[in-house]
Amino acid sequence: MNYNGRMDQETLKWVETKWQQLQSKLAVEVKRMGEKIPYIPVDGRYVDMGEKNIFWWTNGFYGGILWQMYHATKDEMYKEAAINLSKRLDETLEFPNKLDHDVGFMWLHTAVANYRETGDTVARETGLRAARILADRYNPIGKFIKAWNGNRDGWVIIDCLMNLPLLYWATKETGDDEYRQIAIGHTETACKNILRKDGSTNHIVVFDVNTGEMLDNPGGQGYASGSSWSRGQSWAVYGMSLAYRHTGNEEYLNRAKLAANYFIANTAVTDFVPVIDFRAPKEPYYIDSTAGMIAACGLLELVNYVEEGEKNFYFDAAIKLIKAVEARCANWNEDEDGIIGYGSACYERSEDREVPIIYGDYYFLEAILRLLDKDIFLW
Ligand code: GLY
Repeated sequence: MNYNGRMDQETLKWVETKWQQLQSKLAVEVKRMGEKIPYIPVDGRYVDMGEKNIFWWTNGFYGGILWQMYHATKDEMYKEAAINLSKRLDETLEFPNKLDHDVGFMWLHTAVANYRETGDTVARETGLRAARILADRYNPIGKFIKAWNGNRDGWVIIDCLMNLPLLYWATKETGDDEYRQIAIGHTETACKNILRKDGSTNHIVVFDVNTGEMLDNPGGQGYASGSSWSRGQSWAVYGMSLAYRHTGNEEYLNRAKLAANYFIANTAVTDFVPVIDFRAPKEPYYIDSTAGMIAACGLLELVNYVEEGEKNFYFDAAIKLIKAVEARCANWNEDEDGIIGYGSACYERSEDREVPIIYGDYYFLEAILRLLDKDIFLW
């Protein structure tokens, strides 16, 4: 969708300025990065997550940044860096038991992005290998994709909605409907047991692997069981909007709207800068900028599908989120790695709370490029 007609002149100018700043800072960062796969910076420099844990779920996001930048600028520097990152990441496909459901995040932004951008058939095969790993995690009795490994075969998390586009892509590429059916089965289970009726979402739900019965919803990365983890909520907004994109099922569109309405209502009371958990006590007050940027991208997706009379509501909310989070959290100092600060992986853990996190930058870039109609769609 071309969003240009929906933006007032001041917003358009602001978005264009942010794009200039992104180009300037990312060019410096990429040159400084070398072979590193970034997650969070320490003392202004990214640490190599490829070294620390090459299986880590965020290791594809920098690839997403690089492919988006290559698509928008055609500067070969970005493509070369993206291909180099893939060389490291793709080695992990030899160890499927060490990978989890986040193969979607990891390969949609790397191999599949490469194939979409360049038509590279080896990258296509790599993407299909990742899709097979995701499909093999499906429990057909409970109709869910298990999130993690270890003794957690019945554990399912809201985040997984964002991995499902890998399955829709695999069906389009191969003509094999199994991938799509798995994505739909999982989405149905999410609608029944993970998304709540008021538009909020659980983070984790545990099922009996033999009967599919729901057993528990333990606390996850938010404040507690039954609370409202804001990034989980943003995964629900974007994930259900994508579920509608890929299936045309009206129920999914309604669920996306419910999740979006809940997110917008809850961030409006903190001036559109999300806290980590909408149901945590007022103090300590912790922000998660990543939830705001992800939800904004989800809202920009949702705008495509709602009735004409609803479009401005979701679009204006997306713009408010992007502007408010950028104003509060962005660091444009080119001597320091990371752009969007105040990202929080988890409510309880201090080492990656209120810090720049690579996916905050990814979703900010995606939003800005999408508003300018310069993005490559990776979902
Ligand atoms: N998908 C993991 C997270 O959002 O932290």
